Amino acid sequence: MAIIGSDILYAQKLLETSGVVAVPTETVYGLAANAYDEAAVLKVFYIKQRPSFDPLIVHAGSLEQIQKFVKKFPQKALKLAYRFWPGPLTLVLEKKTIIPDVVTSGLCSVAVRVPQHALTLQLLRRLDFPLAAPSANPFGYISPTTPQHVQQQLGMQIPYILAGGPCTVGIESTIVGFEGEQPIVYRLGGVCLEDIERAVGPVQVFHQGGSRPQAPGMLANHYAPKKPLMVGELPVLLDQHATQRVGILVFQQPCLDIALDRQVILAPTGNLNEAAQNLFAALRTLDTLPIDTMLASFVPNTGMGRAINDRLKKAATHQVDYR
Ligand code: TXA
Ligand code: MG
Repeated sequence: MAIIGSDILYAQKLLETSGVVAVPTETVYGLAANAYDEAAVLKVFYIKQRPSFDPLIVHAGSLEQIQKFVKKFPQKALKLAYRFWPGPLTLVLEKKTIIPDVVTSGLCSVAVRVPQHALTLQLLRRLDFPLAAPSANPFGYISPTTPQHVQQQLGMQIPYILAGGPCTVGIESTIVGFEGEQPIVYRLGGVCLEDIERAVGPVQVFHQGGSRPQAPGMLANHYAPKKPLMVGELPVLLDQHATQRVGILVFQQPCLDIALDRQVILAPTGNLNEAAQNLFAALRTLDTLPIDTMLASFVPNTGMGRAINDRLKKAATHQVDYR
């Protein structure tokens, strides 16, 4: 199993010798390697069983570090960077050749962000290279939000998990790309759409269109638990699954028809940020209960609710529509 600890110097040593280390961020735990080191990056793809056509996000300690491997920032990208970094925002920008093609799956753009986590920021600022890091889960499964989540699934394959507590945002970063000066949201995430638009005006949201690499995190089975998950109106779903053992994911209020030990409540206070924080751990909990099927209702589709609903939709066994 991996060692779990908070020794930045040890993590640094491993990363400087082509090793792979799980690191905390405010969104989810990442599986990190030297982004300039092709062999190290290939290990990340292998450990995750990630297809080579799905590019990685490159993490750095500051905007200045990112300027070393990105050609230019469109005006609105700079605005977003100043406003939200360090934070749960990823920008897709034109890359310099120092970033190997394996990182970007051959694209001329690279996804970059400065994460907001004290330990990982300290680590990044000690290194003289950025870290390529996808979420630290086997490809297609739910992202990890605690060191234990990483240990359970990838512990046998990595030497070290830098432990930084449970993730405070709990959902992956918002990904924004550009067509010229026009920002396009590729993935909803930790910075909500309303906040992005307050910073740079109206943006387009890219909707799923197959398995193109420009459609990040949009494969049908992404973020999926092992048990079947149905998402929609709970009373209807409960009726449809009356003969099965079900566990349910509810937003705020418990459901009176179901035993309490078969329910996970995302946010008793109704706070959507709290719901986001708990979402992935809740799906993992349900996945381990003695049930046949997981049922979930959507949350209000505003603020962080949009990203939560997006993840529920992608985790669902069948394609579903928002209500
Ligand atoms: O919050 C996060 O973003 C976390 C933490 C660890 O930073 N990382 C994360 O990485 O969610 P990952 O690999 O699970 O998702 C990254 C997404 C992928 O779906 C990929 O397709 C997209 O970013 N991506 C990476 N490079 C891209 C590029 N050049 N153009 C378009 N999409 C890109
Ligand atoms: Mg992922």
